[in-house]
Amino acid sequence: METEQTLVLIKPDGVQRGLIGEVIARYEHKGLKIVGMKLLQLPRETAEKLYAVHQGKSFYTVLIEFMTSAPIVALAIEGRDAIELVRILNGETDPRKSQPGSIRGDFSINITHNVVHASDSPRSAERELDIVFAPDERYKYHRIDEDILHPSAV
Ligand code: CMP
Repeated sequence: METEQTLVLIKPDGVQRGLIGEVIARYEHKGLKIVGMKLLQLPRETAEKLYAVHQGKSFYTVLIEFMTSAPIVALAIEGRDAIELVRILNGETDPRKSQPGSIRGDFSINITHNVVHASDSPRSAERELDIVFAPDERYKYHRIDEDILHPSAV
């Protein structure tokens, strides 16, 4: 198990529906640490960089329009296996397949308006975090439950 950081974006639908607190609580309660956080409206150029891998796909234009249409919340999240854990907490991209109990399973019904985005690999996480956060916008601190979450004997 490696300590990793990953990028989460609470999308415009999540912000506008008042789900910011609910979504962040899911990650915090799991035992993951929020090490960076900001509310911002993505410039088009930034959204295009973040979603470069999807350029040319049928949903690309709609996705960019949506992601730049209103404020989002960007989170840098740290923890052991954080990239995979966050993706499990988020649920499948397509809300028709995401399980109840996951963020998308509980709160979304549309594949574009699917509440959250998260990095899908260590390489994407590094790339995406660098696009959204300056180096001094991610912080180091100790959560007081870390020894309980990660007992040294296990
Ligand atoms: P996200 O994790 O932000 O990554 C790309 C986004 O494109 C995805 O979530 C969906 O919101 C959106 N999207 C729309 N249609 C599709 C599709 N057919 N396959 C994958 N992603 C899609």
